Formats: sequence, C-alpha cells, structure tokens
Amino acid sequence: MLRLQGPLPERYTTATAEQLAEWIGSAKAALGRRVLILGHHYQRDEVMAWADARGDSFGLSRIAAARSEAEFIVFCGVHFMAESADILTAPHQQVLLPDLNAGCSMADMADIDEVEEAWDQLGRVIDVDRLVPITYMNSSAALKAFVGDHGGAVCTSSNARAVLSWALRPAGAGGAGGDKVLFFPDQHLGRNTGYDLGYTSDDMAVWDPRLERGGLDEATVKAVTLLLWKGHCSVHQRFSPEHVRAFRQEHPEGIVLVHPECAHEVVELADHVGSTDAIIRAVNAAPPGSVIGIATEIHLVKRLADEHPDKQISCLDPLVCPCSTMFRIDAPHLAWVLEGLVAGEVRNRITVDDRTAAAARVALERMLAIT
Ligand code: 13P
Ligand code: SF4
Repeated sequence: MLRLQGPLPERYTTATAEQLAEWIGSAKAALGRRVLILGHHYQRDEVMAWADARGDSFGLSRIAAARSEAEFIVFCGVHFMAESADILTAPHQQVLLPDLNAGCSMADMADIDEVEEAWDQLGRVIDVDRLVPITYMNSSAALKAFVGDHGGAVCTSSNARAVLSWALRPAGAGGAGGDKVLFFPDQHLGRNTGYDLGYTSDDMAVWDPRLERGGLDEATVKAVTLLLWKGHCSVHQRFSPEHVRAFRQEHPEGIVLVHPECAHEVVELADHVGSTDAIIRAVNAAPPGSVIGIATEIHLVKRLADEHPDKQISCLDPLVCPCSTMFRIDAPHLAWVLEGLVAGEVRNRITVDDRTAAAARVALERMLAIT
C-alpha cells in the first residue's frame, strides 16, 4: 500500500538527540493529558522513553479506548495499529502516526481486492456460508471490515487459539458454526494455531492469492479445514530450526521463547510461544541466572536484555533483523508531530471511514466477546 511521508523540515533532521529530547519533553508537558503517547514493544528506545504506555498491538488499542480524556493518541507503532486505535476510540479522539510510511509488510500481503476475489473463487467450490474468515490484527481496516461483514472475527497472536476454536464450534455451542476457516494474512500464525488445536498438515492448505483458485485443486479446497493465506512476517520468517539447535547446543539449560509468526519448525522446538507481551512475561518469570534465547524483533530483545542484567538474554538470530517499518518512527518524527499539536496542527492523522470502521468494529468486538 502506498503511503506518502514527505521529508521533515531541516530543524528536525539536523537536531541533536539532546535538542530533540528537549523539544519532545516541552511539547508533551504543554499538551499534558490531552495527548497520550503509545509505544509498541518493537519501538526504538529513543521513542519508548516517551511512551505513556507500552504494549502489544491490541493491548495498546484498548489503552487508547480506555483513556477517553486524551484528545490525541500519538501511536508509535505501525499503520494497522493506528487504524485499530481509530476504530476503537471515541469520535473526539484523533490518532496520529508519526511517520506515514510505517506500514507492515505482512499486512500488505493481503489486500481487500485479493480477499474478495479469493472469496468468490472459493464460493464456486464450497459453501462460503460455512467458511469463517479470520484476520490477524496485522491487517488493514478494510480486511477487518470484510471479516465483520462475513461472520468472522479478528484475532491477535495471544488469542488466535480461542478465536479459531470459536470459528469451528457449532453455533448451538456458542461458536460461529463454520466447517472451514480462511485465515489471513499470516500463514504461520494460522498453521501454528492449527497444530496447537490438534489439526494435522492434511487439514491445512496454503492459499496463494497470485494463483488461480489459490493454487489448489477442488478436492483439496473441499477436504481441508484451514485455508492459510500465503503471507508472512519478514522479520520472524528469518528464524530457523538451526538457530534454536545452535542455542541449545551452547546452552543446554537455556530457555527458548518465540513469537507465533515464526515458522512451525521453529515453534515446535521452543519452550514458550507467545505474543510480545507473553514473551515479556516469560522473561520476567524466569529465575535469575537464566539463559534465554528469543525469536522476535531485536529492539524488544535488546530492551529485555538491558532490563534484566541478572539474566543472559540474546536474539536467536545472530545476524539480527529489525522491523524496518517500526524503525521509521524516531525522535525527529515524534518531535514533529508533537510540536505540530502544540501549534494547533494535527499532522499525520489516521482515519478510517465510518462504514469501514463500523464493520471492522463488529469483527473486533466479536474477538473481545470470545476472549
Ligand atoms: P504483538 O501483537 O505480539 O505485539 O505482535 C505484533 C507484531 O507485529 C509482531 O510482529
Ligand atoms: Fe509487520 Fe513483521 Fe514488522 Fe510485525 S515485525 S510490524 S508483522 S513486518
């Protein structure tokens, strides 16, 4: 998806770290409780230092919705998170994303046209009234709205199991009564959750949106329970079973924590699998002296290592891969949007149109009711 962020004025690009910190601090103080700065766990330290709340993608949206006195939510994360915050907050609250180019490459792997086309193609083979669409939080508002309109729900990395169980549970038992799920955009979260629920590889197939009928024959579409969209996170897909084996060889007593966006071959070798919040909780719960290898974005891993000097914490991938879109949010962009607010100018507002927001809210609220 094309998003256009113009270059910042020179005042911000040439400023020192100290100047930027001073400007951010002054603007934040001037705005007081009118502004709420939210920081996703993958943000850089120079940004996180100013966050009023830290969290995973859904947790931050809930915080935004709960803090209704905040007129401005400065969302230090990526585009889909800011959209979700706009959907869940009250009309008087405005959500700002400091850099419009902070998207999510995974979310961009499924767009509404492709999903509608897939739905049409599936409708020629199976009864789509029994097909439940589930979208990961990491998706555009348009996809969340599609799911809301077609009886499905959103899920996050922490509640995918509960949401998939709901989708396939009979309507009489409080479920959606589906006999199949179309899960997008992350095939890995879908597959890992499917295995976790006891499904096998025979019950799942990957839907490739670039191929006719997803690249599947009719018999396969009819036979499988989980149709997994061919999308992935380029950060988490880098982790391999070799990384886990090398860590275990060096630290036989070590603890391996991985995010469920990693491939199943990595997940099955881990001690704990969970969202960014769950990874943080597992690190907190580990006894002093623990050696912990983590498969997730490097800024979170480094922060955990700094905050737990009594534990030896490292990233399982020695080559280290940051999320390049999260990384776009930096102190100059944060200073620019905050100083804009002080001057009465709302920069980089993220809005979701009313119709899309209403349908997407249905899908988000179904998730909340399930979990
Ligand atoms: P969490 O919901 O676990 O914070 O994950 C968001 C994300 O983008 C992971 O790549
Ligand atoms: Fe998207 Fe992956 Fe970055 Fe998360 S880490 S925001 S899924 S690209």
